[in-house]
Amino acid sequence: MTVSMSEALQRAEAAVGDLAATRRDRWYPRFHIAGVAGWINDPNGLCYFNGRYHVFFQHYPYGTDWGLMHWGHVSSADLITWRREPIAMAPSLPADRDGVFSGSAVVADSGELYAYYTGHVWNNGVDFTDGVSQRQILAVSADGNHFDKVGVVIDNPDGVPQFRDPKVWRQGNTWYLVVGVGTPDGFGEVWLYDSDDLRDWRFERVLYRSSLPGTFMLECPDFFPFGDRWVLLFCPMRALPDGYERRNIHNVGYVVGHWQPGSDFEVIAEHTELDRGGNFYAPQTFEAPDGRRLLFGWMGGGPDQPMPSQADGWCSQLTVPRQLGLTTDNKLTMWPVAEVEALRSTTDEHGALQLTEDETRVVATDLTAGEIDIEIDLAASTAERIGLAVHKTPGGDETLIAYDVQTGRLVVDRRHSGAGQRGYRSAAVRGGTLRMRILLDASSVEVFLDEGREALSLLVFPGEGERSVELFSEAGTASVTKLNVHRMGSSYERH
Ligand code: FRU
Repeated sequence: MTVSMSEALQRAEAAVGDLAATRRDRWYPRFHIAGVAGWINDPNGLCYFNGRYHVFFQHYPYGTDWGLMHWGHVSSADLITWRREPIAMAPSLPADRDGVFSGSAVVADSGELYAYYTGHVWNNGVDFTDGVSQRQILAVSADGNHFDKVGVVIDNPDGVPQFRDPKVWRQGNTWYLVVGVGTPDGFGEVWLYDSDDLRDWRFERVLYRSSLPGTFMLECPDFFPFGDRWVLLFCPMRALPDGYERRNIHNVGYVVGHWQPGSDFEVIAEHTELDRGGNFYAPQTFEAPDGRRLLFGWMGGGPDQPMPSQADGWCSQLTVPRQLGLTTDNKLTMWPVAEVEALRSTTDEHGALQLTEDETRVVATDLTAGEIDIEIDLAASTAERIGLAVHKTPGGDETLIAYDVQTGRLVVDRRHSGAGQRGYRSAAVRGGTLRMRILLDASSVEVFLDEGREALSLLVFPGEGERSVELFSEAGTASVTKLNVHRMGSSYERH
Protein backbone atom coordinates (compact mmCIF):
# COMPACT_ATOMS: atom_id res chain seq x y z
CA MET A 1 0.00 0.00 0.00
CA THR A 2 1.34 3.42 -0.84
CA VAL A 3 0.22 6.58 0.89
CA SER A 4 0.54 10.07 -0.48
CA MET A 5 2.90 12.34 1.37
CA SER A 6 0.07 14.67 2.38
CA GLU A 7 -1.82 11.79 4.03
CA ALA A 8 1.34 10.66 5.79
CA LEU A 9 1.99 14.21 7.00
CA GLN A 10 -1.55 14.61 8.32
CA ARG A 11 -1.23 11.41 10.31
CA ALA A 12 2.16 12.50 11.65
CA GLU A 13 0.85 15.92 12.73
CA ALA A 14 -2.08 14.30 14.53
CA ALA A 15 0.24 11.91 16.35
CA VAL A 16 2.72 14.55 17.45
CA GLY A 17 -0.16 16.81 18.49
CA ASP A 18 -1.42 14.06 20.81
CA LEU A 19 2.02 13.64 22.33
CA ALA A 20 2.44 17.40 22.74
CA ALA A 21 -0.86 17.66 24.62
CA THR A 22 0.66 15.78 27.57
CA ARG A 23 4.25 17.03 27.27
CA ARG A 24 5.92 17.90 30.59
CA ASP A 25 8.27 20.87 30.51
CA ARG A 26 10.60 20.52 33.51
CA TRP A 27 13.48 19.81 31.07
CA TYR A 28 12.05 21.25 27.88
CA PRO A 29 14.49 23.78 26.35
CA ARG A 30 13.70 27.49 26.55
CA PHE A 31 16.06 28.60 23.81
CA HIS A 32 17.13 25.47 21.95
CA ILE A 33 15.29 23.84 19.08
CA ALA A 34 13.38 20.67 20.01
CA GLY A 35 10.36 18.97 18.49
CA VAL A 36 6.95 20.06 19.78
CA ALA A 37 6.98 16.46 21.06
CA GLY A 38 8.43 13.13 19.97
CA TRP A 39 11.99 12.31 19.00
CA ILE A 40 14.46 14.44 17.02
CA ASN A 41 18.01 13.94 15.83
CA ASP A 42 20.25 15.51 13.15
CA PRO A 43 19.74 19.06 11.88
CA ASN A 44 18.89 18.88 8.16
CA GLY A 45 18.42 21.23 5.22
CA LEU A 46 19.89 24.30 6.94
CA CYS A 47 19.39 27.34 4.73
CA TYR A 48 18.35 30.94 4.40
CA PHE A 49 15.38 31.01 2.03
CA ASN A 50 12.81 33.69 1.24
CA GLY A 51 13.93 35.93 4.08
CA ARG A 52 13.97 33.29 6.81
CA TYR A 53 16.38 30.78 8.28
CA HIS A 54 15.09 27.24 7.99
CA VAL A 55 16.09 24.39 10.22
CA PHE A 56 14.76 20.96 9.40
CA PHE A 57 15.59 17.97 11.55
CA GLN A 58 15.25 14.22 11.77
CA HIS A 59 11.97 13.60 13.55
CA TYR A 60 9.89 10.68 14.77
CA PRO A 61 6.47 12.11 15.49
CA TYR A 62 4.88 8.90 16.81
CA GLY A 63 6.94 8.43 19.98
CA THR A 64 10.04 9.42 21.88
CA ASP A 65 12.43 6.80 20.47
CA TRP A 66 14.20 6.89 17.12
CA GLY A 67 11.81 5.45 14.50
CA LEU A 68 10.38 6.06 11.04
CA MET A 69 12.16 9.27 10.08
CA HIS A 70 10.40 12.44 8.93
CA TRP A 71 11.78 15.96 8.48
CA GLY A 72 10.52 18.29 11.21
CA HIS A 73 10.79 22.01 10.59
CA VAL A 74 11.17 25.37 12.32
CA SER A 75 11.99 28.76 10.83
CA SER A 76 13.21 32.10 12.06
CA ALA A 77 13.83 35.63 10.81
CA ASP A 78 16.61 36.28 13.35
CA LEU A 79 18.21 32.90 14.20
CA ILE A 80 16.90 32.93 17.77
CA THR A 81 13.12 33.30 17.65
CA TRP A 82 11.79 30.06 16.25
CA ARG A 83 8.41 29.45 14.68
CA ARG A 84 7.17 25.90 14.46
CA GLU A 85 6.35 24.87 10.90
CA PRO A 86 4.38 21.81 9.79
CA ILE A 87 6.34 18.58 9.41
CA ALA A 88 7.96 18.96 5.99
CA MET A 89 8.50 15.42 4.74
CA ALA A 90 7.33 11.90 5.51
CA PRO A 91 8.10 8.53 3.89
CA SER A 92 5.88 8.02 0.84
CA LEU A 93 8.02 6.40 -1.90
CA PRO A 94 9.26 2.82 -2.25
CA ALA A 95 12.78 4.28 -2.02
CA ASP A 96 12.14 6.08 1.30
CA ARG A 97 9.73 3.53 2.70
CA ASP A 98 11.61 3.17 6.00
CA GLY A 99 12.79 6.71 6.51
CA VAL A 100 13.44 10.17 5.13
CA PHE A 101 16.99 10.31 6.44
CA SER A 102 19.38 13.25 6.76
CA GLY A 103 20.31 15.68 4.02
CA SER A 104 20.71 19.28 3.01
CA ALA A 105 19.04 22.06 1.02
CA VAL A 106 20.14 24.68 -1.51
CA VAL A 107 18.36 27.51 -3.28
CA ALA A 108 18.31 26.87 -7.04
CA ASP A 109 18.46 29.59 -9.72
CA SER A 110 14.72 29.05 -10.22
CA GLY A 111 14.21 30.43 -6.69
CA GLU A 112 13.02 27.03 -5.45
CA LEU A 113 14.42 25.14 -2.50
CA TYR A 114 16.06 21.86 -3.50
CA ALA A 115 16.29 19.38 -0.63
CA TYR A 116 18.43 16.25 -0.91
CA TYR A 117 17.98 13.45 1.56
CA THR A 118 18.67 9.77 1.90
CA GLY A 119 15.79 7.40 1.23
CA HIS A 120 16.18 4.53 3.65
CA VAL A 121 14.94 0.97 3.16
CA TRP A 122 15.36 -2.01 5.49
CA ASN A 123 15.88 -4.90 3.06
CA ASN A 124 13.76 -7.22 5.19
CA GLY A 125 11.24 -4.47 5.91
CA VAL A 126 11.96 -4.51 9.64
CA ASP A 127 15.55 -3.96 10.70
CA PHE A 128 19.20 -3.91 9.59
CA THR A 129 19.91 -7.64 9.92
CA ASP A 130 19.49 -8.24 6.16
CA GLY A 131 21.15 -4.99 5.19
CA VAL A 132 19.76 -1.65 4.09
CA SER A 133 19.35 0.12 0.76
CA GLN A 134 20.10 3.82 0.77
CA ARG A 135 19.67 6.22 -2.13
CA GLN A 136 19.85 10.00 -2.54
CA ILE A 137 16.50 11.62 -3.30
CA LEU A 138 15.57 15.13 -4.43
CA ALA A 139 12.49 17.03 -3.26
CA VAL A 140 11.63 20.55 -4.44
CA SER A 141 9.70 23.28 -2.66
CA ALA A 142 8.48 26.68 -3.82
CA ASP A 143 7.67 27.97 -0.33
CA GLY A 144 9.95 26.03 2.02
CA ASN A 145 6.99 24.22 3.58
CA HIS A 146 5.49 22.00 0.88
CA PHE A 147 7.82 19.61 -0.88
CA ASP A 148 7.31 17.62 -4.08
CA LYS A 149 9.49 14.57 -4.28
CA VAL A 150 11.22 14.34 -7.64
CA GLY A 151 12.67 10.90 -6.89
CA VAL A 152 16.01 9.14 -6.69
CA VAL A 153 18.88 11.18 -8.18
CA ILE A 154 21.77 8.99 -7.01
CA ASP A 155 21.03 5.29 -6.83
CA ASN A 156 22.79 2.95 -4.47
CA PRO A 157 26.09 1.89 -6.04
CA ASP A 158 26.30 -1.89 -6.18
CA GLY A 159 27.33 -3.44 -2.91
CA VAL A 160 27.71 -0.23 -0.88
CA PRO A 161 26.15 -1.08 2.46
CA GLN A 162 25.97 2.48 3.86
CA PHE A 163 25.39 5.47 1.65
CA ARG A 164 23.77 8.50 3.21
CA ASP A 165 23.52 12.15 4.23
CA PRO A 166 24.07 14.19 1.03
CA LYS A 167 25.39 17.73 1.51
CA VAL A 168 25.16 20.00 -1.53
CA TRP A 169 26.85 23.34 -2.32
CA ARG A 170 27.66 25.47 -5.31
CA GLN A 171 31.13 26.28 -6.58
CA GLY A 172 31.18 28.59 -9.59
CA ASN A 173 28.70 27.15 -12.08
CA THR A 174 28.89 23.62 -10.75
CA TRP A 175 26.99 21.97 -7.93
CA TYR A 176 28.82 19.54 -5.67
CA LEU A 177 27.59 16.91 -3.27
CA VAL A 178 29.42 14.93 -0.60
CA VAL A 179 27.90 11.80 0.85
CA GLY A 180 28.91 9.45 3.67
CA VAL A 181 29.88 5.92 2.72
CA GLY A 182 30.58 2.65 4.50
CA THR A 183 32.45 0.51 1.96
CA PRO A 184 31.87 -3.25 1.52
CA ASP A 185 35.32 -3.90 3.00
CA GLY A 186 34.51 -1.85 6.10
CA PHE A 187 36.02 1.60 5.56
CA GLY A 188 34.44 4.96 6.26
CA GLU A 189 34.68 7.29 3.25
CA VAL A 190 33.34 10.54 1.85
CA TRP A 191 32.44 10.51 -1.84
CA LEU A 192 32.18 13.55 -4.09
CA TYR A 193 29.63 14.02 -6.91
CA ASP A 194 29.02 16.95 -9.24
CA SER A 195 26.19 18.27 -11.37
CA ASP A 196 25.39 21.11 -13.77
CA ASP A 197 21.64 21.07 -13.25
CA LEU A 198 21.02 19.72 -9.72
CA ARG A 199 19.37 16.60 -11.13
CA ASP A 200 21.97 14.67 -13.08
CA TRP A 201 24.80 13.75 -10.70
CA ARG A 202 28.19 12.31 -11.72
CA PHE A 203 30.49 10.41 -9.38
CA GLU A 204 33.67 12.51 -9.18
CA ARG A 205 36.00 10.72 -6.78
CA VAL A 206 36.53 9.36 -3.29
CA LEU A 207 37.32 12.56 -1.45
CA TYR A 208 38.51 11.02 1.80
CA ARG A 209 38.96 7.72 3.61
CA SER A 210 39.30 7.65 7.40
CA SER A 211 42.07 5.66 9.02
CA LEU A 212 40.64 5.86 12.54
CA PRO A 213 40.63 2.40 14.09
CA GLY A 214 37.14 0.92 14.40
CA THR A 215 35.42 3.29 11.98
CA PHE A 216 33.32 1.71 9.25
CA MET A 217 31.18 4.68 8.19
CA LEU A 218 31.46 8.48 8.07
CA GLU A 219 28.04 9.95 8.69
CA CYS A 220 26.87 13.47 7.88
CA PRO A 221 29.86 14.78 5.89
CA ASP A 222 30.12 18.51 5.25
CA PHE A 223 32.76 20.27 3.17
CA PHE A 224 33.31 24.03 3.20
CA PRO A 225 36.06 26.62 2.64
CA PHE A 226 37.77 29.26 4.73
CA GLY A 227 39.81 31.16 2.18
CA ASP A 228 42.01 28.63 0.40
CA ARG A 229 41.63 25.96 3.08
CA TRP A 230 38.77 23.47 3.14
CA VAL A 231 37.30 21.78 6.19
CA LEU A 232 35.89 18.28 5.87
CA LEU A 233 33.60 17.61 8.81
CA PHE A 234 32.14 14.15 9.45
CA CYS A 235 31.01 11.70 12.11
CA PRO A 236 33.17 8.57 12.30
CA MET A 237 30.94 5.79 13.61
CA ARG A 238 32.37 3.77 16.47
CA ALA A 239 35.90 5.12 16.23
CA LEU A 240 37.70 3.65 19.22
CA PRO A 241 38.37 5.85 22.25
CA ASP A 242 41.94 6.79 23.07
CA GLY A 243 42.64 8.64 26.33
CA TYR A 244 40.82 11.96 26.17
CA GLU A 245 39.81 11.38 22.54
CA ARG A 246 36.52 10.02 21.22
CA ARG A 247 34.83 9.25 24.53
CA ASN A 248 31.37 8.90 22.95
CA ILE A 249 29.99 5.91 21.05
CA HIS A 250 30.05 8.04 17.90
CA ASN A 251 31.95 11.32 17.71
CA VAL A 252 32.46 14.31 15.44
CA GLY A 253 35.75 15.21 13.80
CA TYR A 254 37.30 17.15 10.95
CA VAL A 255 40.35 17.39 8.79
CA VAL A 256 41.64 20.50 7.01
CA GLY A 257 43.23 20.61 3.60
CA HIS A 258 43.49 22.09 0.14
CA TRP A 259 41.02 21.31 -2.60
CA GLN A 260 40.08 22.59 -6.01
CA PRO A 261 37.42 21.31 -8.36
CA GLY A 262 38.81 18.40 -10.33
CA SER A 263 41.57 17.65 -7.81
CA ASP A 264 42.16 15.38 -4.86
CA PHE A 265 41.67 16.70 -1.36
CA GLU A 266 45.13 17.22 0.10
CA VAL A 267 44.96 16.98 3.89
CA ILE A 268 47.22 19.40 5.78
CA ALA A 269 45.83 18.91 9.30
CA GLU A 270 44.87 15.45 10.53
CA HIS A 271 41.74 14.38 12.35
CA THR A 272 40.67 16.61 15.25
CA GLU A 273 37.65 16.17 17.44
CA LEU A 274 34.97 18.84 17.33
CA ASP A 275 33.17 19.47 20.64
CA ARG A 276 34.29 17.22 23.46
CA GLY A 277 30.99 17.00 25.32
CA GLY A 278 28.94 13.86 25.78
CA ASN A 279 26.05 14.87 23.51
CA PHE A 280 27.16 16.44 20.28
CA TYR A 281 26.64 14.72 16.95
CA ALA A 282 25.64 15.04 13.29
CA PRO A 283 26.36 18.78 12.92
CA GLN A 284 25.57 20.57 9.69
CA THR A 285 26.78 23.97 8.46
CA PHE A 286 25.52 26.53 5.98
CA GLU A 287 26.50 29.97 4.82
CA ALA A 288 24.39 32.84 6.17
CA PRO A 289 23.59 35.71 3.77
CA ASP A 290 26.31 37.82 5.42
CA GLY A 291 28.94 35.15 4.71
CA ARG A 292 29.20 33.67 8.18
CA ARG A 293 29.61 29.88 8.32
CA LEU A 294 27.03 28.69 10.85
CA LEU A 295 26.57 25.29 12.46
CA PHE A 296 23.85 23.48 14.35
CA GLY A 297 24.55 20.16 16.07
CA TRP A 298 22.31 17.55 17.63
CA MET A 299 22.41 17.14 21.40
CA GLY A 300 21.05 13.67 22.00
CA GLY A 301 22.08 10.09 22.40
CA GLY A 302 21.80 6.74 20.71
CA PRO A 303 19.09 4.11 21.21
CA ASP A 304 21.23 2.52 23.94
CA GLN A 305 21.27 5.79 25.89
CA PRO A 306 17.74 6.36 27.16
CA MET A 307 16.90 9.97 27.99
CA PRO A 308 14.88 10.94 31.07
CA SER A 309 12.82 13.41 28.99
CA GLN A 310 11.32 10.50 27.06
CA ALA A 311 8.97 10.04 30.01
CA ASP A 312 7.86 13.64 29.39
CA GLY A 313 6.89 13.10 25.74
CA TRP A 314 9.94 14.47 23.93
CA CYS A 315 13.58 13.62 23.27
CA SER A 316 16.67 15.55 22.14
CA GLN A 317 17.39 19.08 21.00
CA LEU A 318 19.76 21.02 18.79
CA THR A 319 22.65 23.23 19.89
CA VAL A 320 22.38 26.99 19.58
CA PRO A 321 23.59 28.22 16.20
CA ARG A 322 27.37 28.57 16.31
CA GLN A 323 29.60 30.67 14.14
CA LEU A 324 32.64 28.83 12.83
CA GLY A 325 36.16 30.10 12.28
CA LEU A 326 39.46 28.52 11.26
CA THR A 327 42.64 29.51 13.09
CA THR A 328 46.02 29.80 11.39
CA ASP A 329 46.97 26.50 13.04
CA ASN A 330 43.94 24.81 11.41
CA LYS A 331 41.70 24.58 14.42
CA LEU A 332 37.98 24.90 13.73
CA THR A 333 36.44 27.27 16.30
CA MET A 334 32.80 27.49 17.38
CA TRP A 335 31.10 30.37 19.18
CA PRO A 336 27.41 31.10 19.76
CA VAL A 337 26.21 33.51 17.07
CA ALA A 338 26.00 37.14 18.17
CA GLU A 339 22.21 36.98 17.84
CA VAL A 340 22.06 34.75 20.95
CA GLU A 341 22.96 37.80 23.04
CA ALA A 342 19.56 39.28 22.24
CA LEU A 343 18.01 36.53 24.38
CA ARG A 344 19.53 38.04 27.53
CA SER A 345 16.85 39.57 29.72
CA THR A 346 18.84 40.70 32.78
CA THR A 347 22.54 40.76 33.58
CA ASP A 348 24.32 40.58 36.94
CA GLU A 349 27.86 41.89 36.77
CA HIS A 350 29.84 40.51 39.67
CA GLY A 351 33.12 42.16 38.68
CA ALA A 352 36.34 40.70 40.12
CA LEU A 353 36.03 38.10 42.88
CA GLN A 354 38.71 36.61 45.11
CA LEU A 355 37.89 33.24 46.61
CA THR A 356 39.76 32.09 49.67
CA GLU A 357 40.81 28.46 50.11
CA ASP A 358 37.85 26.09 49.78
CA GLU A 359 35.29 28.83 49.41
CA THR A 360 31.91 28.44 47.74
CA ARG A 361 29.83 31.42 46.75
CA VAL A 362 26.34 31.49 45.28
CA VAL A 363 26.40 33.73 42.20
CA ALA A 364 22.89 33.08 40.84
CA THR A 365 19.63 31.70 42.16
CA ASP A 366 16.64 30.38 40.25
CA LEU A 367 18.55 30.16 36.99
CA THR A 368 17.16 27.57 34.57
CA ALA A 369 18.00 29.35 31.31
CA GLY A 370 21.06 31.55 31.45
CA GLU A 371 24.48 32.47 30.24
CA ILE A 372 27.64 32.83 32.29
CA ASP A 373 30.70 34.70 31.10
CA ILE A 374 33.67 34.12 33.33
CA GLU A 375 37.39 34.90 33.31
CA ILE A 376 39.75 33.22 35.74
CA ASP A 377 43.33 34.32 36.21
CA LEU A 378 44.96 30.92 36.54
CA ALA A 379 48.42 32.31 37.23
CA ALA A 380 47.06 34.29 40.22
CA SER A 381 45.13 31.29 41.63
CA THR A 382 46.49 28.46 43.76
CA ALA A 383 43.46 26.13 43.89
CA GLU A 384 43.63 22.58 42.53
CA ARG A 385 40.17 23.04 41.09
CA ILE A 386 38.28 26.22 40.30
CA GLY A 387 34.88 26.31 38.78
CA LEU A 388 31.15 26.47 38.90
CA ALA A 389 28.45 24.15 40.12
CA VAL A 390 25.48 24.78 37.82
CA HIS A 391 21.92 23.44 37.74
CA LYS A 392 22.30 22.99 41.50
CA THR A 393 19.05 21.87 43.10
CA PRO A 394 17.77 21.80 46.68
CA GLY A 395 17.98 17.99 46.45
CA GLY A 396 21.76 18.14 45.91
CA ASP A 397 22.04 17.68 42.14
CA GLU A 398 24.72 19.73 40.41
CA THR A 399 26.88 19.71 37.31
CA LEU A 400 30.48 20.74 37.82
CA ILE A 401 32.35 22.86 35.28
CA ALA A 402 35.84 23.14 36.70
CA TYR A 403 39.42 23.75 35.73
CA ASP A 404 41.67 20.95 36.99
CA VAL A 405 45.17 22.28 37.55
CA GLN A 406 46.78 18.82 37.59
CA THR A 407 45.69 17.89 34.09
CA GLY A 408 45.44 21.43 32.74
CA ARG A 409 41.94 20.64 31.52
CA LEU A 410 38.46 22.02 31.89
CA VAL A 411 36.23 19.23 33.15
CA VAL A 412 32.44 18.93 32.96
CA ASP A 413 31.39 16.33 35.51
CA ARG A 414 27.94 14.74 35.58
CA ARG A 415 28.44 12.42 38.55
CA HIS A 416 25.75 14.28 40.53
CA SER A 417 23.83 15.92 37.68
CA GLY A 418 20.47 14.30 38.39
CA ALA A 419 18.87 11.69 36.15
CA GLY A 420 20.46 10.47 32.91
CA GLN A 421 23.98 9.75 31.74
CA ARG A 422 26.97 10.04 34.10
CA GLY A 423 30.64 10.45 33.32
CA TYR A 424 32.84 13.43 32.67
CA ARG A 425 34.30 15.09 29.60
CA SER A 426 37.21 17.48 29.34
CA ALA A 427 39.12 19.81 27.05
CA ALA A 428 42.64 21.21 27.21
CA VAL A 429 43.09 24.76 28.50
CA ARG A 430 45.91 26.86 27.10
CA GLY A 431 46.92 28.44 30.44
CA GLY A 432 47.21 32.08 31.51
CA THR A 433 43.63 33.29 31.69
CA LEU A 434 40.70 30.92 31.29
CA ARG A 435 37.79 32.60 29.52
CA MET A 436 34.55 30.68 29.30
CA ARG A 437 31.11 31.28 27.99
CA ILE A 438 28.54 28.85 29.37
CA LEU A 439 24.99 28.45 28.09
CA LEU A 440 22.57 26.79 30.48
CA ASP A 441 19.15 25.62 29.42
CA ALA A 442 16.60 23.41 31.16
CA SER A 443 18.44 20.19 30.28
CA SER A 444 21.69 21.28 28.67
CA VAL A 445 25.09 22.81 29.27
CA GLU A 446 27.21 24.22 26.43
CA VAL A 447 30.68 25.40 27.39
CA PHE A 448 32.87 27.43 25.03
CA LEU A 449 36.46 28.26 25.90
CA ASP A 450 39.59 29.72 24.47
CA GLU A 451 37.81 31.89 21.85
CA GLY A 452 35.91 28.82 20.70
CA ARG A 453 38.89 26.51 20.18
CA GLU A 454 37.14 24.06 22.48
CA ALA A 455 33.48 23.39 23.21
CA LEU A 456 31.65 20.83 25.31
CA SER A 457 27.93 20.13 24.91
CA LEU A 458 26.14 17.89 27.37
CA LEU A 459 22.61 17.06 28.43
CA VAL A 460 21.72 17.07 32.13
CA PHE A 461 18.43 16.30 33.86
CA PRO A 462 18.42 17.89 37.33
CA GLY A 463 15.76 17.12 39.93
CA GLU A 464 12.92 19.41 40.99
CA GLY A 465 13.31 22.87 42.51
CA GLU A 466 15.02 26.16 41.80
CA ARG A 467 18.49 25.86 40.32
CA SER A 468 21.40 27.92 41.54
CA VAL A 469 24.95 28.54 40.39
CA GLU A 470 27.86 28.38 42.81
CA LEU A 471 31.45 29.44 42.30
CA PHE A 472 34.06 27.40 44.13
CA SER A 473 37.75 27.03 44.85
CA GLU A 474 39.19 23.76 46.09
CA ALA A 475 42.45 23.34 48.03
CA GLY A 476 43.65 26.86 47.29
CA THR A 477 42.53 30.32 46.23
CA ALA A 478 40.89 31.51 43.02
CA SER A 479 41.15 34.82 41.25
CA VAL A 480 38.13 35.54 39.09
CA THR A 481 38.62 38.68 37.07
CA LYS A 482 35.17 38.85 35.52
CA LEU A 483 31.82 37.18 36.08
CA ASN A 484 28.60 38.11 34.32
CA VAL A 485 25.43 36.12 34.73
CA HIS A 486 22.62 36.68 32.25
CA ARG A 487 19.08 35.37 32.35
CA MET A 488 17.82 34.14 28.99
CA GLY A 489 14.35 34.53 27.54
CA SER A 490 12.43 32.07 25.39
CA SER A 491 13.13 31.34 21.75
CA TYR A 492 9.70 30.13 20.81
CA GLU A 493 7.17 32.35 19.10
CA ARG A 494 3.89 32.19 20.91
CA HIS A 495 0.82 31.89 18.76
C1 FRU B 1 23.15 10.37 12.08
C2 FRU B 1 22.21 9.47 11.27
C3 FRU B 1 22.39 9.70 9.78
C4 FRU B 1 21.07 9.27 9.23
C5 FRU B 1 20.12 9.72 10.29
C6 FRU B 1 18.94 8.82 10.50
O1 FRU B 1 22.68 10.57 13.38
O2 FRU B 1 22.42 8.12 11.59
O3 FRU B 1 23.49 9.03 9.21
O4 FRU B 1 20.79 9.84 7.99
O5 FRU B 1 20.86 9.79 11.51
O6 FRU B 1 18.06 9.34 11.45
